[in-house]
Amino acid sequence: MNPDTPLQLLGGLTAREFMRDYWQKKPLLIRQALPGFETPISPDELAGLALEEEVESRLVIEHGVTPWELRRGPFEEDAFSTLPERDWTLLVQAVDQFVPEVAELMENFKFLPKWRIDDVMVSFATAGGGVGPHFDNYDVFLLQGYGKRRWQVGQMCNSESALLDHADLKILAEFAPTEEWVLEPGDMLYLPPLLAHCGTAEDDCMTYSVGFRAPSAAEVLTHFTDFLSQFLPDEERYSDAGAQPSSDPTQIQRDSLDRLKALLNEHMSDERLLMTWFGQFMTEPRYPERIGSLEISEEEFLDTIEQGAVLVRNPSARMAWSEVGEDLVLFASGQSRLLPANLRELLKLVCSADALHIDNLGAWLADDDGRCLVLELLKQGSLEFADE
Ligand code: SIN
Ligand code: CO
Repeated sequence: MNPDTPLQLLGGLTAREFMRDYWQKKPLLIRQALPGFETPISPDELAGLALEEEVESRLVIEHGVTPWELRRGPFEEDAFSTLPERDWTLLVQAVDQFVPEVAELMENFKFLPKWRIDDVMVSFATAGGGVGPHFDNYDVFLLQGYGKRRWQVGQMCNSESALLDHADLKILAEFAPTEEWVLEPGDMLYLPPLLAHCGTAEDDCMTYSVGFRAPSAAEVLTHFTDFLSQFLPDEERYSDAGAQPSSDPTQIQRDSLDRLKALLNEHMSDERLLMTWFGQFMTEPRYPERIGSLEISEEEFLDTIEQGAVLVRNPSARMAWSEVGEDLVLFASGQSRLLPANLRELLKLVCSADALHIDNLGAWLADDDGRCLVLELLKQGSLEFADE
């Protein structure tokens, strides 16, 4: 896509302007980002999802048994009929993995790396409902799907910001709104990380949150060093060959620190391993149990494709590709695979295509590496046959 094309989704800004002026920096209200947008799922369907074992859901009731009572799903059929008339909200996580029409929403955000997207959370609230003023560590696009919601935004926060004394919810003790808007279906609000916000339903309303994710520095360091250490033999150690005799044996001297830094730098700057770890980490599926492996022979696979079968990405699988040196690497559901440079177009196709079939796979199936790649992804569960 051309980053200099004005986008309705961004209120007429180009992707380049949005990234320069708003992304990770400040909020942006976009009236009719998706004109005529109608919620692809009804409140009843959302409630239905919240009954399912594998779906993460929460109910927040402002005046429940306790103030801001939190109940976690899966819920029983009658859980919703006994709720107060107003001031509650139901939030369902990762609806994109269960409802293809919701997954399609993510197609609008192709100007951002796909591996940065977390999920699409969908909420339903009765009048007055919301989760209270809070901040998130992530960027989010809040798309109004049904009814009206009042959004207020306030101060920038951080982990020192005072919170209400609540066991489960992080509600800000102080919220100083500086701006507010009432959003109608099709309107969208972009919020950068750490910005205090509070959404309150004006009437029965549904909001779609396209949420992004970014690993914390602590996560990056812990996970990458864990990954690295698998490749380090026990005999590789801090070494002080060539050191000067100690003037005071109880002192740790500066040159010891320099040797330690050299040891760390040598491994931390291994770009090949860093890329491999990062790609694996960022494509780890949220629900690994939804990526089931498949037993299929090469012959059976080719026959099925030749008969017109269509392969699609498993909605729970995350895929990305990159270059390491002369090679290419494909990351799929937390695994990586090195591939020869001639497979570049196939990699792009596999990572971005909604449907793979004989027409677009065609010649790749005649290539040993290409055929093997598609077959492996199918066996691993990142690709699956579309339901007819
Ligand atoms: C929502 O209530 O739909 C969104 C909650 C949030 O502000 O993160
Ligand atoms: Co929020």
